[in-house]
Amino acid sequence: MSRPAKRVTVTGAAGQICYALLFRLAQGDVFGRDQPIILQLLDLPQAQAAVRGVVMELEDCAFPLLQDVVITDDPAVAFRDADAAFLVGSRPRSKGMERADLLLANAEIFKVQGKALNENAKRDAKVIVVGNPANTNAGILSAFAPDFPKANVTAMVRLDHNRALSLLAAKAGVPVSTVEKMIIWGNHSPTMLADWRYATSGGQSLSAMVNDEAWYRETFIPKVGQRGAAIIEARGASSAASAANAAIDHMHDWVQGSNGGWVSMAIPSDGSYGIPEGIIAGVPVICADGEYQRVTGLEIDAFSAEKIAVTVNELQSEISAALGK
Ligand code: NAD
Ligand code: LMR
Repeated sequence: MSRPAKRVTVTGAAGQICYALLFRLAQGDVFGRDQPIILQLLDLPQAQAAVRGVVMELEDCAFPLLQDVVITDDPAVAFRDADAAFLVGSRPRSKGMERADLLLANAEIFKVQGKALNENAKRDAKVIVVGNPANTNAGILSAFAPDFPKANVTAMVRLDHNRALSLLAAKAGVPVSTVEKMIIWGNHSPTMLADWRYATSGGQSLSAMVNDEAWYRETFIPKVGQRGAAIIEARGASSAASAANAAIDHMHDWVQGSNGGWVSMAIPSDGSYGIPEGIIAGVPVICADGEYQRVTGLEIDAFSAEKIAVTVNELQSEISAALGK
């Protein structure tokens, strides 16, 4: 007998990222090739026709695991009985818009969705926020979902993590699949710290192998932080397939485990590593049995502490601006 379907909320369903994400979800890349799913797709009223077009394409794939698709512009319908939620839709910056206005506009969206999450989703639903500013949007969502477990609201820094893996593997001349223990600290923004100090390949320290601290500080860290902008510059649009892939990786590992490996997730801080409690910041975690566990007890040197303070200060000022404080 087949398992009961998992209900998966996806917002921003007519957008670029979802054009890659939805097909991978329906293929079974997160919940497994034996787990039926029901997609609950949310987008704005003016995007409903475009969502219907995407759903026509999903139908034309005849995915065996895709049991049903709900299309809606009502957050309450989208979050009803959700087992998992990918919050991708958000307000992009328009011409002449100040960053503070962008933060406020998104805060409005995530307040409404937080309320809908609170009132409609299962209490053990796993939530990833992708829409930018992802960490701050996740903070607003959680603040407006008081009865929903804070630990289950996360934001995506996995794209930064994957970017860092590829860049370091190329520099060291090792296969990317062998790179372990990469860390992204902080905000999904150019202030993040891509930390190579614990990274290994085949048990060997990659920082020792590369042995070039200037490259780490002046090339590696800024390049990972500015990769999103470089893609916008080259493509004329922000990363989409790689962002969808990272969202799949994040949720896959949370649901199915990371096999003892370290991955980076933005999760509510417990106050460790100089990150104030409650702030949703990137840290290293290990996932097992449907839970993530923060990697604890890592030494933070003066350079890393300074970088983490910068990205955490940015997060705190974003949250204040989003709340209009
Ligand atoms: P897009 O503009 O192609 O699509 C966004 C979709 O969201 C649109 O269909 C829009 O109608 C919808 N939307 C807007 N407001 C909504 C609301 N209130 N409810 C539901 N849907 C709403 O954008 P995209 O390329 O798919 O990117 C989506 C977001 O992901 C952007 O904010 C982008 O900056 C962000 N992003 C994050 C990462 C990351 O690593 N965290 C990486 C890449 C992109
Ligand atoms: C990315 O990292 O590719 C995106 O977050 C960039 C952006 O601003 O949409």
